[in-house]
Amino acid sequence: MNQTTRKYLSKLEDLFSFSPADAQGAAARFHEEMKRGLDGQTSSLRMLPSYVGRPTGAEQGRFLALDLGGTNLRVLAVRLDGRGKAEITAVNRLAVPETVMRGPGEALFDFLAEGVALFLEEHRLDPKDHRDLAFTFSFPVAQSAVNAGVLLNWTKGFTAAGVAGQNVVALLSEALRRKRIEEVSVTALVNDTVGTLATKSYADSSCDMGVILGTGTNACYPEKTGRLAKGGFPQPGKEMILNLEWGNFDKLVTNPYDEALDRITLNPGRQRMEKMVSGMYIGELVRLILLDMTDRGIMLDKKHRPVLAREHSVSSEQMSLSALGEDFFAAIGIPDVSDRDRDAAAHVCRIVSRRSARIAGAALAAVVTWMDAHLEKKHTIAIDGSLFEKYPGYPENMRCVLEEFFACRADRISLCTTSDGSGIGAAIIAAVASFGQEQKHKPALPRIRKNR
Ligand code: BGC
Repeated sequence: MNQTTRKYLSKLEDLFSFSPADAQGAAARFHEEMKRGLDGQTSSLRMLPSYVGRPTGAEQGRFLALDLGGTNLRVLAVRLDGRGKAEITAVNRLAVPETVMRGPGEALFDFLAEGVALFLEEHRLDPKDHRDLAFTFSFPVAQSAVNAGVLLNWTKGFTAAGVAGQNVVALLSEALRRKRIEEVSVTALVNDTVGTLATKSYADSSCDMGVILGTGTNACYPEKTGRLAKGGFPQPGKEMILNLEWGNFDKLVTNPYDEALDRITLNPGRQRMEKMVSGMYIGELVRLILLDMTDRGIMLDKKHRPVLAREHSVSSEQMSLSALGEDFFAAIGIPDVSDRDRDAAAHVCRIVSRRSARIAGAALAAVVTWMDAHLEKKHTIAIDGSLFEKYPGYPENMRCVLEEFFACRADRISLCTTSDGSGIGAAIIAAVASFGQEQKHKPALPRIRKNR
């Protein structure tokens, strides 16, 4: 590596550094924003009520789940045995075409209803046996009940027209009727973080936080209903899971690359933390840096510019390949790159992914200390998403921040990979919502094996 490259990378290290003091400062500002959100004041943390608490493990039944979170739609049939065990009995995956993500809202909801119709047909399921559909809709929604909520704004590249400001459960129900699916009703509307928390806590009562670190990022935790200013909640003194929408946290120090990225997104000014942390955006940060290095003549050649100038030509999956020592440039379609340039790119990926993990770790520490200031209890954090699960070194970088915050007490926090939360967890939430009514006194189903 020559002197110019070394100098550039060292400046980059500074721009992307997130020191222990930065982490402490961010956590303090995070608490201020949480408080403002809870008090009903303007805040970048929305603190959205889910209208459910955590499951007890005794919930049971068969449910359909429809999971729209990013570029994939999943339709699932889920069975809960009432003893903490959940099983997916059937699942379909469909790619959501860009035309559907960004077209008219009605077309998006018709696509969802069509997904349910195909699923029922393909798996020969009688809708009469699967009347409750849990809808995982992983976007910021202001809920007014467990099965009603208005989309506040789209994130993660969705822009489907005419949906923001509407009750998404009503839109889905109308689309199901248009498809003549009369027997199924949408009984729960669930954020993926809430589904993830529900999935883990169905079998483990120490779980008190759900986190997503994938295409987008977000977290939820159980809050005492008495602390919610928005009021009108049933059962004061109980807990309700709150969706923080932490991807929108906007009190972090940004650098010129963050600003350049924000300007080219579909939602400038919003989801500022998500744009520093999540899988959909860290590849973009790396791309902008490599493009800058190419333009300055520090790496590659001008002929490589078109690849790097194309939005989303670098993904977090390709970044993780470089962390595994594989050829990053070959993966993005630039062959025959020198070892020197490859090393420099690997360094850039390390710098960007490390900041992402450290910010996620600081936000997590902020939520844990909000619940338990002196870390007196054990906390199990359910985490889903490809960054946490697949990016080499990502969990370790997060843990490092927890150790800076809590020293040896950090081992009271367990970070647990929890897959399928947005499917299984939605079904659990649907069951929590209906539990206490006709389900409550039924005998438990025979014990079944978990088969994922
Ligand atoms: C959405 C959240 C979601 C997160 C993870 C964000 O873009 O606003 O609601 O939980 O992505 O999927």
